[in-house]
Parts: sequence; structure tokens; C-alpha cells
Amino acid sequence: MDDIIYLDNAATSFPKPEEVYLAIEKTMRTQGSNPGRSGHKGAIEAGRVIFEARENISKLIEIEDPLRIAFTMNATEALNTAIKGLLKKGDHVVTTSMEHNSVLRPIKALENIGVSSTIVQCSERGELDPKKIEKAVRKNTKLIAVTHASNITGTIMPINEIGVIAKKTGVCFLVDAAQTAGSYDVKVNENNIELLAIPGHKGLLGPQGTGVLYIAEGVEVTQLKEGGTGSRSEDLLQPTFMPDKYESGTPNTLGIAGLSKGVEYILNKGIENIRDHEESLAEHFILELEKIEEVKIYGLRKRGKHAAVVSINIGDEDSAEISYILDKVYNIATRAGLHCAPLAHKTIGTFEQGTVRFSFGIFNTHEEVERVIRAIKEITSQL
Ligand code: ALA
Repeated sequence: MDDIIYLDNAATSFPKPEEVYLAIEKTMRTQGSNPGRSGHKGAIEAGRVIFEARENISKLIEIEDPLRIAFTMNATEALNTAIKGLLKKGDHVVTTSMEHNSVLRPIKALENIGVSSTIVQCSERGELDPKKIEKAVRKNTKLIAVTHASNITGTIMPINEIGVIAKKTGVCFLVDAAQTAGSYDVKVNENNIELLAIPGHKGLLGPQGTGVLYIAEGVEVTQLKEGGTGSRSEDLLQPTFMPDKYESGTPNTLGIAGLSKGVEYILNKGIENIRDHEESLAEHFILELEKIEEVKIYGLRKRGKHAAVVSINIGDEDSAEISYILDKVYNIATRAGLHCAPLAHKTIGTFEQGTVRFSFGIFNTHEEVERVIRAIKEITSQL
């Protein structure tokens, strides 16, 4: 993908740090055994690789016990496990209008078994008023599920204030950190987060097919699947302890080895440095976009209020068409349309048009921002 300007990091980060590629290849070539099953050296080494990944992620989210981390295939699987595993008939869940379908669809699906929900309306700029969350909590509310940052506007949600509400009301708090982990602190203890879902292939810089679910001690979440875990093989019932309860079947050892190196890269570089770089790119981009009359920018524009995700439209032009031109003519990768978050688009008023989304990552540069701005100016002048 030579000379491409990749601005679709909110979908999957690209490229990855060199160590990630190397770890995946090394694991496949030299340690490709099944972890936690057999007792031979290769299997033990594969188990060590996985444990190291748990340790690295624990450091990132500042928890003491790496065994509270279960590996999943992606954030969607982590969210489905958390939502469907926690909520039972008669329970109520509070969520927001800025959520991704990976939160909204499992919640909607649970209506079939008698779980009710309240979707708190966010502002046109994607902001969430935490007081509305508190107001929505009922006697039977079992869960508050909120994204840490919108995948469309990047708007950062007040998770520390919601954490206080969750603690005060005794409701379990689930955070979808799909757009923040790796660039923003997600301190689970400080924010009273009891369930946390993270994709491995976005900000954590790992490969696709990896994800993480953190479950705090004492939170009862039923597993979605049963099967071999390499532990308690004599028992026909699924183990009840972490992480085996949620990790049936051979894991994605190669992916997890890569993910581990992605997280190490973040720990070495420092989350705040990554955030600073990404935010400065988004800020630069927005400042230049504001000079182009035909461009409409969605969400909050102030640095620090949104992750490095910027959604725009050019006049009334179809967002898919603009994204297509950016790709075809200028080699700029973006994502257009509804981004699997229809209610968020209704909230910001773009359900019909969609938006063209530019999402920055650690490997983007200011020079790339300048090139993208030149491309947008050119497109705009030709309309
Ligand atoms: N959830 C990802 C996105 O926003 C795939 O593009």
C-alpha cells in the first residue's frame, strides 16, 4: 500500500509497529503450539506468550490481576459477552444514542427475553449529559453501557462522572473503549468500570481477530460458549474461573502475540505521547477544514474534547462518493456512510447523507494532513 494516506484507523489501525509483524511471524514459525493444553516446551512457550499479553494489557488499564482479562475475537464479541452474559429477564439497561451497533444490537436482541432499555439522547454534537444517565436509572437497572468515544465524531464521553453514578446507584458499568484504548487512559478502578471491551486491532495496534474483555471481580457474567479450555478436563461443566470461563477453544495465539507487542509499543512510547500526536493531527486538520466554506464538520471541534476522529461532509454531496474519489484519485483511505452507528448519525443529523470519516493514528504525519487538505480543496473546487 505504497504512498497511501491511511486515515481509517478507527476501523483498523494501519500500519502496525514492526515488532507486531515480527512477533506474529516468529510465533507461527517457532512457537506455534497450542497454549494451555499439552505439557511440551512449545505449548508452554505459547502459554507464556499469552500470559505476557495479559500482563501488558493489565498494565495499560491499570489492574493488578492479569487473569481478569479474557481474550475475545474483537470488541463486538467482548460486548456481546458482557451484555448478554450479564442481563437477564426483567433487567433494564441504560445506554446512549451515540453507541455503535455492537452495543445497540445485543441490547435490542435481549428485548426478546424481556430485557428493557433506555437510550439516552445525546446532543447534536454528540455530547452526553451524565445527569440524563442518572435520571434513566430505575430500580431494575442492571447495566449502564457507554462508549468512551464516538466512532463518528470522536466525542469523548464523561466516563468518570458516569462511573460515580454507577457506583452511587449500584449499577454495573460497561465501557466500550473501541476508539480510545491505546490513546486515552482507561483506568478501570479509578472510573468504577466493571466491564471493559477493547478491540485488539485498533488503538492497541494488534492484528484483527483479537479483542479483550475485562471483568471485575464479583461481576457475574454468563459465558457465551462452552468447550475445551485445557483446564479441569475431567469436568463436563464449563470452568467458572477467569479467564477460562470465557476462553473456550484454541485461542488466536499468533494474533495475541502480535497484540502483546502492540501494547508494549504503546507502553514504551507513552499513551499521552500517542494521544498528543493524534490530537495535534486532528486539530491541524480541523483548523484547515474550517477555512473551506463548503465543508461541514460534525461533533466538537475543541482539542481534548474528541478523539482523533473527524467526520465531515462537502455540501450535500454523497459521503460515499467523496470517500470514493479520495481513494481512487488521491489514494486517501477514509470510511464513509453510517459507520455501523445509525442512531449516532440520527443524533448528529447525518442519517441520510452519512459522513466521510477521517481517523488519525500514531503513524500519520502533518505532511499527510496537508496533502489531504489539498485534495479536499481540489474536490470542492470541481463540484
Ligand atoms: N467499528 C469500526 C468503525 O467504526 C469498524 O469503523
